[in-house]
Amino acid sequence: MIDLRLRNVKNKEEILENTTYLEKEPESNIGKWKDVFGNKNDIHIEIGMGKGDFIIEMALTHPDINFIGIEKYSSVLARAIEKLYDKEIPNLRLIRMDANYIEKVFDKEVDTIYLNFSDPWPKKRHAKKRLTSEIFLAKYANIFTGDNKIIMKTDNTGLFEYSLESLSQYGYIIEKVSLDLHNSDIENNIETEYEKKFSSKGNNIYYLEVKKIVNKDK
Ligand SMILES: C[S@@+](CC[C@H](N)C(=O)[O-])C[C@H]1O[C@@H](n2cnc3c(N)ncnc32)[C@H](O)[C@@H]1O
Repeated sequence: MIDLRLRNVKNKEEILENTTYLEKEPESNIGKWKDVFGNKNDIHIEIGMGKGDFIIEMALTHPDINFIGIEKYSSVLARAIEKLYDKEIPNLRLIRMDANYIEKVFDKEVDTIYLNFSDPWPKKRHAKKRLTSEIFLAKYANIFTGDNKIIMKTDNTGLFEYSLESLSQYGYIIEKVSLDLHNSDIENNIETEYEKKFSSKGNNIYYLEVKKIVNKDK
């Protein structure tokens, strides 16, 4: 879902061109993301980062984790980059990409995937486009290190129910779940832009943290 007001972000290509946060040829880093950061810290990615509130705050809060934000639309990404002008965050990189191509960019090097307020694609015929569909889970399986962890937040009941079913069918085990994150004992939550918007309207925020250990000996 794209915010129509953003279609006209001026100079978005210029903004994207003149930042060191954006990895312009992310495919060239496949299998080598730890070298990009120059350390061996874990790599966490957010797919559909929007204007970046969550990933920027996460990177600032956890300097010992490397964060990569992925967003499909350059106009949205430009807004995130503008928020970084006065900041120096060495553990943050951004990629403009459709998550469909995620396997071209990562190879067994991601520790955690965040899916925050992903587009719900409510029509049944669009179910394959949901970021927790089997099609995407199969792609994620190739980019994880072996300890596969997905953390999702949404206010959308349909997407949440679908994801619970899809993830458990794929072999994921629930580690934490809440139907009302803001009134739960889950601590240190960093709110996303959509989370702030929907919770201020009175919507409950659903939270799900799942894990699948594929190769423990690795
Ligand atoms: C509803 S917004 C949520 C933004 C942010 N995560 C938040 O919680 O505030 C969903 C975002 O995901 C992006 N998106 C949707 N499908 C995507 C895909 N296949 N690959 C990359 N980004 C995608 C959209 O462009 C949009 O910015």
